[in-house]
Amino acid sequence: MKLLDLYAKMKGDLNQIEQELERSVTDDHVLLSEASLHLLKAGGKRIRPIFVLLSGKFGDYRLDVMKRVAVPLELIHMASLVHDDVIDDAQTRRGQLTVKSKWDNRIAMYTGDFIHGKALTIAAQLPNPQIHLILSSALVQMCVGEMEQIRDFFNTEQTIRNYLLRIRRKTALLIAISCQLGAVASNTDRSISNSLYRYGYNVGMAFQIRDDLLDLYGTEKQIGKPPGSDMRQGNITLPVLLALKDPAIRDSLLSEIASIRELGGKRDTGRAIEMIRKSDGGEQADQLANRYVKKALQALEGLPNLTAKKNLIDIAHFVGKRNY
Ligand code: IPE
Ligand code: IPE
Ligand code: MG
Ligand code: MG
Repeated sequence: MKLLDLYAKMKGDLNQIEQELERSVTDDHVLLSEASLHLLKAGGKRIRPIFVLLSGKFGDYRLDVMKRVAVPLELIHMASLVHDDVIDDAQTRRGQLTVKSKWDNRIAMYTGDFIHGKALTIAAQLPNPQIHLILSSALVQMCVGEMEQIRDFFNTEQTIRNYLLRIRRKTALLIAISCQLGAVASNTDRSISNSLYRYGYNVGMAFQIRDDLLDLYGTEKQIGKPPGSDMRQGNITLPVLLALKDPAIRDSLLSEIASIRELGGKRDTGRAIEMIRKSDGGEQADQLANRYVKKALQALEGLPNLTAKKNLIDIAHFVGKRNY
């Protein structure tokens, strides 16, 4: 099943999540509201809410409870995007201007914090303290991951392990807990929420590897922003690290990356990207993403055979191949 078919099947519940998202960022403060709604209305896959809803199906599924988990998770994700675009100096996201470029960096800082505050307001309605602890720890890890990314900008000597640890923090953990918390909030057995966490973690790793591949191989139409943004910014991703292992291109790629660093926006990234495309870095990164997809599928093996399980299997396959 395609992701679009899944959206159609989950339409009723997803519409309710959407309404709640909109309500949650609507505020008397016009500018904060406007900037948040701008990002919200630009679209996005809403993959984290989908994971919450599907995971909730393994327990006592109640939409009003699911909303209080799914909406804060999507809001935390959105807040991180607003801040990420400041750090990455990104002009477009979801095919629209970023908050930092439509308004400015200062407004983006507080829009991110505002969205985050709204996430807390909704999550506060959940009585289980374990949920709050899981949410806040993931958020702390996400900040660490983003900081590590800044530290590692243009560091061509970083290890692959380094990269994997970084994407675990900045992306995979939030997806892992989206699955875990959907289950915890619907009171499943511990073994089920643990399996879903493992599923989400592995899907999340594949998700970010695909994101990094799309930045090098995708088109602006597919990814909603100009490709090559990571390279321009100095974010050295997995395909680049793998390409650097190829002795035939290592030296020329290193000197190209050094020029991008030196000349900033004045240096076109096209040549570096061309070199990476010629190497088998992309192919190898793709293989690693698929290994994570396989692990995600294994994590689901012991779960009861619900439709939700089949949907999670389909999403894992989608993530492994995703081109948007
Ligand atoms: C973008 O996440 C940032 C990453 C963690 C790769 P998504 O790809 O889920 O972004 P939207 O919400 O669909 O725009
Ligand atoms: C994900 O990383 C960002 C966060 C986890 C906040 P990216 O920097 O790759 O995300 P995009 O490519 O800007 O969406
Ligand atoms: Mg970014
Ligand atoms: Mg990216």
